[in-house]
Amino acid sequence: MTYCTDNFILLFLTILSVFFITPNYVSSINVVSYGAKPNDKFDSTIPFQKAWFSACKSKDPATIYVPKGSFLLKQVTFKGPCTNNINFQIDGNITAPLDSSSHGNSGSWIMFRELDGLSIQGGTLNGNGDNYWSCKKAGNCPAGARSISFSSCKNVKVSGLTSLNSEAAHITVDHCKDIMFQHLEINAPETSPNTDGIDVIFSSDVIVNHSTISTGDDCIALIQGTNNVSIDHITCGPGHGIGIGSLGTSNDEAGVENVRVMNSIFKGTQNGVRIKSWAQPSNEYARDIVFKNLTMDNVQNPIIIDQNYCTGSNNCPNKSSGVKISNVSFEQIKGTSATPQAIQLDCSDTNPCQDIKLHDIHLIYTKGSATSTCKNANVITSGVVIPKSCL
Ligand SMILES: *[C@@H]1O[C@H](CO)[C@@H](O)[C@H](O)[C@H]1NC(C)=O
Ligand SMILES: *[C@@H]1O[C@H](CO)[C@@H](O)[C@H](O)[C@H]1NC(C)=O
Ligand SMILES: *[C@@H]1O[C@H](CO)[C@@H](O)[C@H](O)[C@H]1NC(C)=O
Ligand SMILES: *[C@@H]1O[C@H](CO)[C@@H](O)[C@H](O)[C@H]1NC(C)=O
Ligand SMILES: *[C@@H]1O[C@H](CO)[C@@H](O)[C@H](O)[C@H]1NC(C)=O
Ligand SMILES: *[C@@H]1O[C@H](CO)[C@@H](O)[C@H](O)[C@H]1NC(C)=O
Repeated sequence: MTYCTDNFILLFLTILSVFFITPNYVSSINVVSYGAKPNDKFDSTIPFQKAWFSACKSKDPATIYVPKGSFLLKQVTFKGPCTNNINFQIDGNITAPLDSSSHGNSGSWIMFRELDGLSIQGGTLNGNGDNYWSCKKAGNCPAGARSISFSSCKNVKVSGLTSLNSEAAHITVDHCKDIMFQHLEINAPETSPNTDGIDVIFSSDVIVNHSTISTGDDCIALIQGTNNVSIDHITCGPGHGIGIGSLGTSNDEAGVENVRVMNSIFKGTQNGVRIKSWAQPSNEYARDIVFKNLTMDNVQNPIIIDQNYCTGSNNCPNKSSGVKISNVSFEQIKGTSATPQAIQLDCSDTNPCQDIKLHDIHLIYTKGSATSTCKNANVITSGVVIPKSCL
């Protein structure tokens, strides 16, 4: 009798789970069953592609499963459109070839494009960038490969992914909408050139939260055509901070607007939060931006707007920036500056910054008194603002 009741309960639960509890991803596709091998020597690119084709045309939402172990993957594009949502569940490591020339001039290692409904969970991606960085420092190298690119994608969620030692930027997002990154770990040495954490261009509705980013360049950079970005609970450093720009790289560019950077910590970075533009004509803008509740720990330029941005004196246009910066709020920003100049607002003389708000700022320089500099900036302060020298 008990046995019978148990069976009924089991049957009932099974029916329940089929309808309500099992995840949406019905088909599971293990890359190993397509011939991938969990060792760093065997090229698993074709097996991964076969698994992708199968998942992409599956009539049910499909999970591609990458088990524990280390899989060697060469330059690859996972392209849609697909008939259903795809979930990449990665328990193992995916490594790039040691030979930096293997990506050719493609500029990318793993590319996802033209997808609507993608989720990536877990995994460690090792870009093996060391050889490329040495080559780059010596000069004369092809374009480095970005480790993961999302291009023309919608409804993407990336969670719990680790990205190590990318040749160039770790993650790039272009022409995407509704994309969320959470619990990421991005890591490359402080000395590695141009290894941005996450770059976003021509995209909207982007969330990055609860992540740790240590790189040789920007932790997160938002460039032209970007709208509605929320960056929350990030630990950044080493690196060049979180910023908007470079803007105004050419005359005719789309602007950046509606950005929030909140509840984050910057450790030993070159910049904290920054907006930068080249000093030349442009119809671009940066507006409706909030930087709030940020801690600076030994940061060289904690708060900086630089409209005379230039990487080497040779190519500096030395004109007046056409980029219009307005409605930018810096609130509750505290901690230590590694240089005396804790606040630097260097705006364009033809397009002064409008409506810059500073509220509750407390930045100190450990070896003396901190200063602020303002040029062509229309600033409103409230609450405590330290250092206040130019305000
Ligand atoms: C995966 O990568 C991590 C981080 O580099 C490393 O500690 C671990 O040993 C790797 N695992 C395998 C199976 O290679
Ligand atoms: C901004 O993006 C968030 C999440 O990505 C979305 O929920 C929200 O509706 C967007 N806001 C606007 C004004 O589009
Ligand atoms: C990240 O942000 C999204 C949208 O606001 C939220 O649903 C998610 O819970 C956040 N992640 C964490 C780890 O807080
Ligand atoms: C401010 O940010 C820190 C993380 O840097 C977080 O622990 C704290 O809860 C945030 N405060 C508020 C009021 O959200
Ligand atoms: C300034 O930007 C904030 C944040 O995006 C926005 O909520 C506010 O409406 C903007 N103010 C004006 C006057 O546009
Ligand atoms: C721009 O200014 C920099 C620094 O003042 C100077 O070294 C450079 O020669 C100037 N470039 C041009 C094109 O005038």
